[in-house]
Amino acid sequence: MTRPRLAAAIVALMLSACQTAAVAPPGATSELQVAQVLATADAADPHSFARPLEARVANVALDLTVDFAAKRVGGTATLDIERRPDAREIVLDSKGYEVSRVTDSSGRPLDYRFGARDENLGSPFIIQLRPDTKRLVITYTSAPDAEALQWLTPAQTAGKQQPFLFSQGQSIFNRSWIPTQDSPGIRQTWEARITVPAQLTAVMSAPAAADPVTQGSARTFTYRMPHPVAPYLIAIAVGDLKFQPLGPRTGVWAEPATLPAAARELEDTEKMVTAAEQLFGPYRWGRYDMIVLPPSFPFGGMENPTLTFLTPTFIAGDKSLVSLIAHELAHSWSGNLATNATWADFWLNEGTTTYAERRIVEAIYGEKVARQQVALGIDAMNKAIEDNGGAAGADTRLAVDLKGRHPDDGLTDIAYEKGAAFLRMIEANVGRERFDAFLRGWFDRHAFQPVTSAMFLADVRQYLVKGDQALEARLQLERWVYQPGIPSNTIPADPQAFTDVDAAVARAATGSLPTDLWPGWTTDERLRFLNRLPRKQEKAQLDRLNQAFGLNDIGNQEVLFAWLDLAVANRYDPAVPSLERFLTSQGRRKFVRPLLKALASDQRWGRPIAARIYPRARPIYHPMVTQELDQLGLR
Ligand code: BES
Ligand code: ZN
Repeated sequence: MTRPRLAAAIVALMLSACQTAAVAPPGATSELQVAQVLATADAADPHSFARPLEARVANVALDLTVDFAAKRVGGTATLDIERRPDAREIVLDSKGYEVSRVTDSSGRPLDYRFGARDENLGSPFIIQLRPDTKRLVITYTSAPDAEALQWLTPAQTAGKQQPFLFSQGQSIFNRSWIPTQDSPGIRQTWEARITVPAQLTAVMSAPAAADPVTQGSARTFTYRMPHPVAPYLIAIAVGDLKFQPLGPRTGVWAEPATLPAAARELEDTEKMVTAAEQLFGPYRWGRYDMIVLPPSFPFGGMENPTLTFLTPTFIAGDKSLVSLIAHELAHSWSGNLATNATWADFWLNEGTTTYAERRIVEAIYGEKVARQQVALGIDAMNKAIEDNGGAAGADTRLAVDLKGRHPDDGLTDIAYEKGAAFLRMIEANVGRERFDAFLRGWFDRHAFQPVTSAMFLADVRQYLVKGDQALEARLQLERWVYQPGIPSNTIPADPQAFTDVDAAVARAATGSLPTDLWPGWTTDERLRFLNRLPRKQEKAQLDRLNQAFGLNDIGNQEVLFAWLDLAVANRYDPAVPSLERFLTSQGRRKFVRPLLKALASDQRWGRPIAARIYPRARPIYHPMVTQELDQLGLR
């Protein structure tokens, strides 16, 4: 067995060691080999303190009360563990939660301690085990500044009457409010009883296990996830929430003020689930519901199982941004069924999902739209290569080295777009029919299990290449995954994808704008146009653009961002009021981070603007966003 394959096998063994569903990979390794590879530790998750081969969490049962006044969730976490008989302790991940007591299932106290704190990872939480300990009961509360949680005042919601709480676990944030082993390779079933003020609703990323029970001024909700999932996928939202069904197994939660527009925008969701099943196999999670969060939500979407979390900024009124739903839905296979074993293989989650997203878009909205989104993706990929050190940049590899770094350092369009391009390249070489069968098989063979780059390559070789030396050479598999830059066999964008837009971009260089065409263009066509304009623009030309297309007041948030990005790069004063509105009305990281960074690094023009806006905008930004932006020194 070659070394990468061995490492892959070890990771699979190690991470699903005690999981009943786990099957040893072909050519399973001996105990001795396991020990040898573990000694080199290159297969372990560098972002977790857990030692799952000694003792691992198999089920988490939370019983928590949500205290809005104190900004804390507190109660108990009961952990069922699987362990080697001689294990003396179990190591959990922690970042800031406060523990008052740990006992076993019969109430006997267990000793515990916290190890040294790492800035990114938090502290190991080490609990002594007795020879017979199988269950731990941890009494704890989260800290008011827990990284995963955002507490919103009523004023920060759409309804303005009730407070709101939501969590964001990916990548390593759940260790701020859930005492468990926070590694994507250590899958756990889980359940939760959540008690909230009676006028509020608590929803989670799992099926409801019972009807809510009201007692006095409190209401308790119960959820249970019967499948083992990566712990970053445990999520909660609490607020004034109402539900609207969209189809037999789809629906949307939102604040009452947002619900009608959300439901209209999401009307194609049920069709998307059906299309996705046709492509990738049965949807295994029961329902596919979504929640539209307040504008603070730091992402476009988050694929929390059974309940995708969404930014309200995708609501454009014309369904033009719903490829976001195709994306989060696709994670129900790529990411939630077959999950990156460690964050180094994040591209397996996001690249596969980005490829799958466009297949769903093609099935629902047609080939032309999908081809255009592929072309936009290729522009984004090339930009990501540039932004990450060019064709030789270490972070332009798909499998990234994140040791000693925060996993979110690997969160670039390389994972998304180079990952998707890799899959498109394989598809083009083996044909769609064979590739579709392969992808479906990949999800089936690895359902509810961690996966690595090496496992993916092994599967490509076993099920597609099958010893065909010419094909093996054509694919350049190792080159794609482990080397920087874009290999020579990448499939270029269709040059016809945006024919008239590209012609308009060329004409714009001579000062003539596509005034007649713009009104008929789709959002993707408008994005192509704005993003392909030369980055350096004269004020007079920006004036003409702004006037012709009403860009400062455009409702579509993606188009507005593309415009503001161009405006900031050119110190365009007339866009500043619009910029200020944009930055203070939503907290999507992809939008606010580049704009504020660009402003802050422009000492003369931008920095004073950023220094004025940031303190006003900051209260609505999620802790994971402010943590980074605070470094800009704008406060
Ligand atoms: N899982 C990601 C969001 C994420 C990634 C959160 C890494 C934390 C760490 C989600 O599926 C995603 O990719 N969202 C994108 C939208 C998508 C259409 C590209 C986003 O939020 O912009
Ligand atoms: Zn994603």
